[in-house]
Amino acid sequence: SAGGTPAARLITWYDRHHRRLPWRLAPEAIRQGQRPDPYAVWLSEIMLQQTTVGAVKPYFDAFMARWPTVEALAAAETEDVMKAWAGLGYYSRARNLKKCADEVAARYGGVFPDTEAGLKALPGIGDYTAAAIAAIAFGRPAAVVDGNVERVVSRLDAIETPLPAAKPEIRKAVAAMVPTDRPGDFAQAMMDLGATICTPRRPSCILCPLIEDCTAQRLGAPERFPLKAPK
Ligand code: ADE
Repeated sequence: SAGGTPAARLITWYDRHHRRLPWRLAPEAIRQGQRPDPYAVWLSEIMLQQTTVGAVKPYFDAFMARWPTVEALAAAETEDVMKAWAGLGYYSRARNLKKCADEVAARYGGVFPDTEAGLKALPGIGDYTAAAIAAIAFGRPAAVVDGNVERVVSRLDAIETPLPAAKPEIRKAVAAMVPTDRPGDFAQAMMDLGATICTPRRPSCILCPLIEDCTAQRLGAPERFPLKAPK
């Protein structure tokens, strides 16, 4: 579409084509100023760290039904939380999940910190997760960069530096794109674009809202990006 910024084109696409996921608020609600429950955002982001959306959904729903608040999770037995996590894998995530819930309940009265720095000080929350929660739950203009976002931006700017050396350059490009009005939807739009359109193999460029912004597409070689350093 003509006019506006790449971020505006992406958000317009997201309004129509976003994946409806149980931890998300509809874009209409976000536009009206609502924000999702930070507890639900945190729980989903921890579960999604090394696990696909499809595998996470039933676990997310089960946790939210059984422990609807961070204080409920803090009051749970660690053993019950570990059992409920069984099948998701990477069990250190579940241990840190419980530790984080305990700390948010005991130290912050059940209220999650609303800054990247505050979030990063909690167990199991690193750079990516802190940025994702800050943007999605608190509307902060954080640069949320996961593997999908790395691929999208590498292609948009035809970044010739291989990963992982390109990471600072990618982070800078994302930070420059983030819109201040809907940073959480922008982050999730980048993820959805990477997951459904700007895929690793055979990307669906004809459906892409950023086709006119994409240098790799213009070069006729979107699949060439991101470059990867030989192992
Ligand atoms: N992967 C990690 N976080 C996600 C989110 N909020 N939506 C979709 N996929 C994700």
